Amino acid sequence: MSGQLTQQGQGSSHNRTRSFWVPALATAFSIGGLWVGYKLSKYVRTQRRRQRLLIQYQKEMIPDSARMEAIKEDFMKQLDYGRENKVTPTGRHMLMLPSYVTALPTGLESGDSYAIDLGGTNFRVLHVVLSKEPSKVECTEMTEVSIPPNVYKGTGQQLFDFLATTLKDFIKEHKSKSSDMRVPVVGFCFSFPMDQTSLTQGLLLDWTKGFTCTGVIGQDPVALLSQALDRAGMHCRVSALLNDTIGVWAAQRYFDPKTSIGLILGTGTNACYVLPVARIPKWDYKDPSLQHPEALTVVNVEWGAFESQWLPRTAEDRDVDASTAHKGKYLFEKLVSGMFLGEVARRILLTLAADTKLFGDYSTSPDAACVLAKLAEPSSFTSVHMSAIVGEAMESKEQQRKGPAARDMLPKTAEMLHKSLGAGPAEAPPSTRKVVKEVCVMVALRSAKMVALGLDALLTHSGWKDWALHELATQERRATDLSLPSLATTIAIDGSVFAKFGGYQAMLASCMLELLGPELHPLVHIKLTQDGSSLGAVVLAQAAAEEAARKSRASADEGPVAKALEPMQTASKAQTQQQNSREPAGAQA
Ligand code: BGC
Repeated sequence: MSGQLTQQGQGSSHNRTRSFWVPALATAFSIGGLWVGYKLSKYVRTQRRRQRLLIQYQKEMIPDSARMEAIKEDFMKQLDYGRENKVTPTGRHMLMLPSYVTALPTGLESGDSYAIDLGGTNFRVLHVVLSKEPSKVECTEMTEVSIPPNVYKGTGQQLFDFLATTLKDFIKEHKSKSSDMRVPVVGFCFSFPMDQTSLTQGLLLDWTKGFTCTGVIGQDPVALLSQALDRAGMHCRVSALLNDTIGVWAAQRYFDPKTSIGLILGTGTNACYVLPVARIPKWDYKDPSLQHPEALTVVNVEWGAFESQWLPRTAEDRDVDASTAHKGKYLFEKLVSGMFLGEVARRILLTLAADTKLFGDYSTSPDAACVLAKLAEPSSFTSVHMSAIVGEAMESKEQQRKGPAARDMLPKTAEMLHKSLGAGPAEAPPSTRKVVKEVCVMVALRSAKMVALGLDALLTHSGWKDWALHELATQERRATDLSLPSLATTIAIDGSVFAKFGGYQAMLASCMLELLGPELHPLVHIKLTQDGSSLGAVVLAQAAAEEAARKSRASADEGPVAKALEPMQTASKAQTQQQNSREPAGAQA
């Protein structure tokens, strides 16, 4: 009985326990379920929102062909307006600046000279000997110094004193090897918008690329350099002043007479191209040898200032623009060049992190909060990090070989996120890396698309595209062998984005193929012309020095016979130019 009672007692306590636990567990499960369901739906909502944002960025940043056409149309209009009219330098219109280069490099330039090259925050000085053999560089010595921010944001005098003393020290060091030069000849590559009034004179129209030195806008950089050299007790002769695009074009043309375009894709971006002088009515240049309708020159486009309502800009681009020293200006440059790629990507990642917890839930995880805080710091994620990430994305062959699993892990992306933002595997799991990769690829691809569009517009505007298409059609009609090399044209490019940014060259090539089509694409040769701006400065300085020496010899010897020969020489030069220019600008072999 007592046993029964005990069993009964046990049974009833068991029942009581059951009657407590079952509903409790059921409630807990349903609360847990609700909680998990809530979390899951929140997760799904966040993921969906992230996907929606990515799709939106894709739409905003990667223009379809109709939009590309609209941008190109505006680009062509600005080129046309700029070749006819003097453009006010507002930073919102391409300037089309005549370079005053009238003797296009031939490869026969020779001699010993220096170049100084102020392109971005690095300053280069070079000593180059061009051989007497055609298109041969005998010796190059170079030094590169980085300009401290207090100098490139200081006064003009500080900047030019810095340039002059660096040049002076360099010449002193290399003097023995160039002792035959009594007054060193210098080519000055000054990579900012400049209104040239001759090959050795110009006026700075505006600073770009973060420079803000006072007292230089409206002044002649050669005069400021000469004053600084005087202060440093050094005498040099600047025989050519040029933009870096002109330099890179001249350097490549020294080796390849088909070079028709020079392009810089680095901290900043810009291009120049060869045009007949007669197509630049605003350029009032009185040299009689240029009066021939087919005489050629090269024009600095200043394409960084191109603007169109169709430019593919996002809210983040507007934020980046607002944070620059040149707000509201050089909008094309801000979509393309190395100074801005990293910043735009960083801001997009910041939006994704804040709105969709891309690097984890920063409200509960201190590590995720740290990553978010770091990402909010300007320049924490740069073009260099991006370059490695895009490079990894573009190495498709290698990744395919390793298989899909290896491809999805994106180890380089993980490393860059760790280096730049301190994100570990918890904050940057493979799914996050994939999103980061997509963002970086979009920003880089937009840059390549814009550059391809600009190049396609220059090839159209110079007349090369129509001419090459016509020649191809004629040759086909005649059923002759296509002599493709004679139709080819070369684009010389330099700058860190083109030379070093992972996968950029492949992206640009595929964008060019899309715009030029399979017939013309093989005829456009893109050549990396490393250190081209400096070498081009030497080529042009040497050409100008030779020309000056020739002129002074001629005027010393000038007698009645020389005077009588002069008109004939001018006529023969014009004839050569005419022969050269049956093909469009820059296509001569
Ligand atoms: C300047 C150009 C220069 C380009 C590349 C731009 O910011 O306006 O003159 O050619 O950068 O260095």
